[in-house]
Amino acid sequence: MATPKSLSKARITALGTYVPDKILTNEDLERLVDTSDEWIVQRTGIKERHIAAEDEFTSHLCIRAAERLRETYGAALDDVDLIIASTTTPDFSFPTVSCRVQQHFGMERAGAIDLNATCAGFAYALHLANGMISSGLHRKILVVAGETMSKITDYTDRSTCILFGDGAGAVLVEADPELSGGFESVILGTNGAGGIHVYRTGLAEQMDGQPLEGKGKIVQNGREVFKWAVRTVSAGIEQLLEQAELTREDIDWFVPHSANLRMIESICEKADLPLAKTLQSVQDMGNTSSASIPLALQAGVNSGRLKFGDRVLLYGFGSGLTHAGLLLRWDVPDLS
Ligand code: COA
Repeated sequence: MATPKSLSKARITALGTYVPDKILTNEDLERLVDTSDEWIVQRTGIKERHIAAEDEFTSHLCIRAAERLRETYGAALDDVDLIIASTTTPDFSFPTVSCRVQQHFGMERAGAIDLNATCAGFAYALHLANGMISSGLHRKILVVAGETMSKITDYTDRSTCILFGDGAGAVLVEADPELSGGFESVILGTNGAGGIHVYRTGLAEQMDGQPLEGKGKIVQNGREVFKWAVRTVSAGIEQLLEQAELTREDIDWFVPHSANLRMIESICEKADLPLAKTLQSVQDMGNTSSASIPLALQAGVNSGRLKFGDRVLLYGFGSGLTHAGLLLRWDVPDLS
């Protein structure tokens, strides 16, 4: 499928991220559940994660990330005309996180909408932002992805509590006056069939007559999620490259959802992509759901690896089960 012709073209022009101050280390977890630093590092690569304070919620993290974006962008965000907030852990069911971001910045002309595509949410939000701008309906969209996973994590379940962390990222997606644009290709996919029994959280204690455990906290079959993600993402990468008529050598950076370092290694191996060309945030931040890709991009920028003009392959995947991959040019000016 070729990328459709559009009225306008979109590119990402700014990035900002934020993680809470409090750090939860593997040693801290050893005191909560029957686990060890060695087991966690060996199976997941995770060393620590940032955890929101009791009175700190997803909108607070998103606002801090957008404030940082504004600092590096060097201009006010008054002319943002749409805010898309990706989150699985909103402060409230309503009002939405995007409304709280709008209120903080006083963006009077902006529409505001939240989306939940779980850990694939940032990729879905970018896809929507690109579509809105390409159609000519919008000019400047603030995408924020924020999560307080700690608030839905069961800290008595050792198979899940070692994985998750909190954080947020924000990017600005703007119409490109040169009409070139950074978005090159996209792939979306869903497998709702097994979702509830593989990886979920929520209020329902039974579904289709079957009792469910969890009581609002995360429940998952880690092995099944692992196998599905490796299979699905490696096949998706193949499709994305084919669609864009590109080869692996054309990709400067692969930025998968940072769920587990071992999973990233397996995806790279199956997709025949070098691990050295991967940006990730999982080792120091754990699985931050839809915030993990912007946090990985920030790590790339901070270390001087990710540069203006680089071609990036982003791939989000998560509960649902759902996934989304994007090929794009990184159009954020280098800081130095
Ligand atoms: N510390 C020590 N032992 C643990 C443990 C922990 N934190 N968590 C589980 N175990 C134990 C299990 O009880 C089991 O013990 P048993 O053999 O005596 O029954 C053993 O380790 C193996 O459990 P299993 O669940 O098969 O381990 P695994 O190798 O699959 O690793 C995960 C577990 C969760 C790390 C791994 O499956 C995973 O990361 N999956 C993907 C999850 C994910 O990223 N989800 C989000 C995607 S968006």
